[in-house]
Parts: sequence; structure tokens; C-alpha cells
Amino acid sequence: MAKKKAEKRDVSAIFEPIMIGNVEIKNRIAMAPMNMNYTAPNRYVSRQQMAYYAARAKGGTGLIITEGIWASERSGDTYRKYNNLSLANELYVPLMSELVQHVHAFGAKFFAQLAISPGRQGSSELTGVKPVSASAIPYMSYPEHQINNLDPREMARAMGYQGPIPDTDDIDELMDFARSIPGTHMGGETPREITVGEIQELVHDLGTAAKLAKRSGFDGIEIHAPHGYLIHSFFALRSNKRTDEYGGSFENRIRILLECIHSCRKTVGPDYAVGVRISASDNLPEGFDPAFAARVAKRCEEEGADFIHLSDGSYEKMNDFLPNKEGQVMPKSAIVKKGLKIPLICPSVHEVENVLDVLETGKADMVSQGRQQIADPDWVNKVQEGREKEIIKCTRCNIGCITRFAIALPCRCILNPIVGDEQFMDEYMKRPTLPIKKRPWQIVKEIGKEPSTPVE
Ligand SMILES: Cc1cc2nc3c(=O)[nH]c(=O)nc-3n(C[C@H](O)[C@H](O)[C@H](O)COP(=O)(O)O)c2cc1C
Repeated sequence: MAKKKAEKRDVSAIFEPIMIGNVEIKNRIAMAPMNMNYTAPNRYVSRQQMAYYAARAKGGTGLIITEGIWASERSGDTYRKYNNLSLANELYVPLMSELVQHVHAFGAKFFAQLAISPGRQGSSELTGVKPVSASAIPYMSYPEHQINNLDPREMARAMGYQGPIPDTDDIDELMDFARSIPGTHMGGETPREITVGEIQELVHDLGTAAKLAKRSGFDGIEIHAPHGYLIHSFFALRSNKRTDEYGGSFENRIRILLECIHSCRKTVGPDYAVGVRISASDNLPEGFDPAFAARVAKRCEEEGADFIHLSDGSYEKMNDFLPNKEGQVMPKSAIVKKGLKIPLICPSVHEVENVLDVLETGKADMVSQGRQQIADPDWVNKVQEGREKEIIKCTRCNIGCITRFAIALPCRCILNPIVGDEQFMDEYMKRPTLPIKKRPWQIVKEIGKEPSTPVE
């Protein structure tokens, strides 16, 4: 008897459009923010950034979220000086608007992720700026929480360490060694407690950057609040021992985040998409759990956020931040989604089966993919065209992406040789012409209504 042909799976849930605020996204796949170390000198947009994002837009991804863009000149970068894009003043708008125009021409909606400070995960060794945090408590990373393939020896060499490297493969010993070398990001320097005045300056700067993101043409913004950075450091009792209005109670610990939402809303108006990215948990003593994240998400919704994008963990819990396992955040996402009306994006879902599970069982309304979109920018088109077998599957090896990022090299991918070279390919640089929807004088009129932005 002839074998019955396997029934074709219904993937239509992935291609159901969704509204985020007033923005229609054509499918349920977002590309997660990833700093690929492609930024041009002095924080300007590079050709490689334009082509790299265009490739993902051309591959069918509905929503692309930029890497963390710096909203303020007042605090240091995440890793190296100037390795983040910036919208801290108007000088960055012209090239940023070119990037947006480019991605739009290739068919994706485009949100800007805006970050205010690395918090206690910053390093004066690397960026020249003393890190500030909720309280003066350093972070520490542990071997049992590390990601696949991150080698402390390589980190030390990349930091310019010339001395002897211990002759051992014992991860505890290697971590101790790496922690002793400043700037490896294996252990943090003791930050300074941020003052209330400084918080208010950063919150103000974020609002200005949101306005500049809107002017650059982005469809929306995402406030960066996960991964142990400054805003996250207020959430966790481990890193927040404050006794003022930013410490203690739940409402006090999330105050900075709610102020960020208000600050952005004030400058972009009621109709512009404003969302928040938070970690679903900080799975360490005196950290927080998904139930806490659910409360944060709900409060953001009440204060006018249009969407929540989850992530997980921090530099102290790297294997939550960059999951070693497929679908790791899905159960946490289900907890956060309960009772939340605005769209929720669940991260790190690479398998079609799991994307469908998230959507069909209501664990989230969209998924985001980070490393999977690096490995295969055509994931969406391949699924839509029934070519799922052709997907280049990310193995979460971290070799070409996060390891190279950590040692200050532009990211590549061991599975996809094109990554890093998109700028040399006409396919991603030759831009399809877009009709100009707004007449120039309409844009000028809109900008005229904005409060002026001093160029610092
Ligand atoms: C090279 C690299 C850079 C990243 N940069 C950012 C960033 O700028 N902002 C952010 O919120 N997350 C950042 N992330 C985390 C990703 O957005 C994503 O949450 C994480 O990679 C897990 O998803 P994945 O398993 O699909 O890769 C980065 C990840 C990688 C690999």
C-alpha cells in the first residue's frame, strides 16, 4: 500500500497580520535587537548596517527592531566606546533616516530600540565612563550560568592581556582568572549610585531620542529595560538597596521605567507605537520571577505602552539572556501574557512548531528571533513558500555572533558566510524606489510643532 503523504502543516497563524498601536505588522515574526558591531565611527550608521537589516526585511520578517541605540551622551556604552548607534542628538537623524528608508523599501516595519545606560554592566576600562547603577553593587558572572562556547581565555586576550594564561580547562579557575582582568565582562567594577537628578536627566534624554526616532521615520520605539542594564538594576532587590522613591516597594522599583514611558509619550504623542523590553526573570537570589515581570508588563500597559517584548536574564545569568535551549522563555511568556491586553513578543523561538505553539496557545502574540535571523534571514519566506527544509538552523553556538561581539569584532556566522558581507551585495544595497507618502512641507510642519532639541 502506498504510504499516505504527510499532511501539510497549517502555518497560517504565522502570517496573520497584527496591530501594535497603530502599526500593522504583516506577520508574527520580529527580529530581536542585536548589536552586531557594525556601527561606523562616532556612532553613525554604516553601509553594512543598512544592508544587513535590508536582508532580513527582504527575507520577509514582519517587524525589525534595531540594536540598542544610545539615547544619551551622559552614560557609557555597553561594551566599547562608540559601538552603539546614537540618537542622542539631531546630528544622527539624517543617516538614521536613510537606514529607515532602506528597511522600509525592503518591506518590513522598523522599530528603534532606545537604551539609556548599561548600568552596573558598564566598564570605565572599556568606555571611559564610570558605571552608575541603582546602588553601588557590582555584578558577578558565574560559570554555571555561561553560554555555549564563551571562552574566558579569548576574552582576556582580546582585552590586550599579555601575561600567562592558566594551563587548565577548569571553568571555575578560568572564570576567576578572567574576572581578575578588567573589561572582560566576567565581573563588574563597583558602580556609583546614580542620583535622582541624573535619573531625571536620562529620562529626559530618552524622550528626546524618541522624538528623533520618530523624525527619522521609525514606526515605533522600544525602551530597553532588560538584561541587568540600568533600568533592570532598579527592579532586582539584589542590585537596588535604595531608600528613596526609587527603592523598596514594587512601585518605587519600577518608577524609572514608568517615567521613561511618560517621557517618550510626551514627545511622540498618543498615536505613536511605544513599547518596552524587559527580562522575564532574574533568576538569582533577590532577583525577580515571571510573576514580577507580569506585574511590570501590566503596569506598563496601564501607563500607555503599546507592546511588551520579553527577554530574559542578565550578564549574571547569560544562559537566560542568550538561551542555550530552544523555546526556553515560552513558559515564562505564558505567565506574563495572562491578563495582558497589549501584544506580547516572546523571544528566542526558532522552530516553526514552537512559533505555532506560542501563537495558537496564546503564550504571546508574536515571537522574536535573534541568532536565527543571523543564520537565516529568509526564515519567513522559506516558511511561507513551504521551503521549511531549506532553513539554515541556528545551533546557538555563539561563535560568530556573541563571542566576536564580546571581543570587539564585527559579528559573522559559522553557518552563513554572507553575514558581515551584505554591504558588498547589490541584492541588499540597491534599494527599490518607495513612493514618498508625505510631502516635504507636511514633514516640516510636523517637526515645527516639536519642542526644539539642542545639539550638544
Ligand atoms: C550579537 C548579539 C547582540 C545583541 N544585542 C542586543 C541589543 O542590542 N539589545 C537587546 O535587547 N538584546 C540584544 N541581544 C539579545 C537578543 O535580542 C535576543 O534576546 C537573544 O539573542 C536571544 O534570542 P535568540 O535565541 O533568538 O538569539 C543580542 C544578542 C546577540 C546574539
